[in-house]
Amino acid sequence: MSYTLITGASSGIGREFVREFARRKSDMVLVARSDDKLRELGAELSPSGTPDIHICAEDLGDPESPRRIYEYCRERELRVGLIINCAGFGFAGEYGSMPLKELQEMIQVNMAAMAGIIRLFLPGMIAEKRGGIVNISSVGGFQGIACLGLYAATKSFIITLSESLHEELKDKGIKVIVVCPGYIETGFHARACQHPEHSLLPVSSPSVVVRASIKGLLKNKLFVFPTFLDFLLVFLQRFFPRAAVLKTAAFLAPLKSSDCQVF
Ligand SMILES: NC(=O)c1ccc[n+]([C@@H]2O[C@H](COP(=O)([O-])OP(=O)(O)OC[C@H]3O[C@@H](n4cnc5c(N)ncnc54)[C@H](OP(=O)(O)O)[C@@H]3O)[C@@H](O)[C@H]2O)c1
Repeated sequence: MSYTLITGASSGIGREFVREFARRKSDMVLVARSDDKLRELGAELSPSGTPDIHICAEDLGDPESPRRIYEYCRERELRVGLIINCAGFGFAGEYGSMPLKELQEMIQVNMAAMAGIIRLFLPGMIAEKRGGIVNISSVGGFQGIACLGLYAATKSFIITLSESLHEELKDKGIKVIVVCPGYIETGFHARACQHPEHSLLPVSSPSVVVRASIKGLLKNKLFVFPTFLDFLLVFLQRFFPRAAVLKTAAFLAPLKSSDCQVF
């Protein structure tokens, strides 16, 4: 029996993945810091114990957390066949005023934890000659964004790592995809101090991301753009000078002028 490991499972897109996989009766290991939220979700979706849902509350900001998650699964003999790397957060504001603690935590959660989790579970998938890895990036990972610089850079890292792994693992029976949403209605923006209502771009629901991801995973489609607009925003970049791309990205980022003086 194979388990789906979902990070960022306590809210937003990750929680929607949990709901969808519960509908499909997939056994899961849920990861996030909010133990109470994860337990509530597990009890709601699996009152009778089917599917089998394990709660592994971890702070991915701790460099040792990927190892502990791996040990949690190994000790309970939970074979992880699919990883959904969804945990992440952003920070909107001038780089020069970004708290260093926030900077280190974002690097750890958005990049190092994801890379570590993949590294630890991959040998098991390779031995089984099957597996799947879904990495949640963003349309924000295709260019720099003024006042969202570190977040954009972490999402760019995810795209590059996913591309490399997709190519490296495609003949080994392991699918690797990278999902690149635009604005999604979740708790993300409140934490990042963003204001989607100030953006011209539409806001979609997390279910749009989940549906597109599952479709993309079945076809092992490297890049998944949940909406046509997400695809278009990235595709059109190739026809414009980089300076114009950067200006547009800063313009479309939902920051209040008080958060960041871009123009
Ligand atoms: N919302 C958007 O517009 C949007 C667009 C493009 C990409 N994304 C990406 O989608 C992913 C999911 O975000 P979301 O929109 O669903 O936001 P969200 O509702 O804020 O969910 C973020 C999830 O990450 C977890 N998380 C954050 N810091 C963590 C830490 N230190 N350790 C463990 N877990 C942690 C949170 O759980 P706890 O707080 O319980 O730890 C939560 O489950 C992120 O990678 C984000 O970059 C979002």
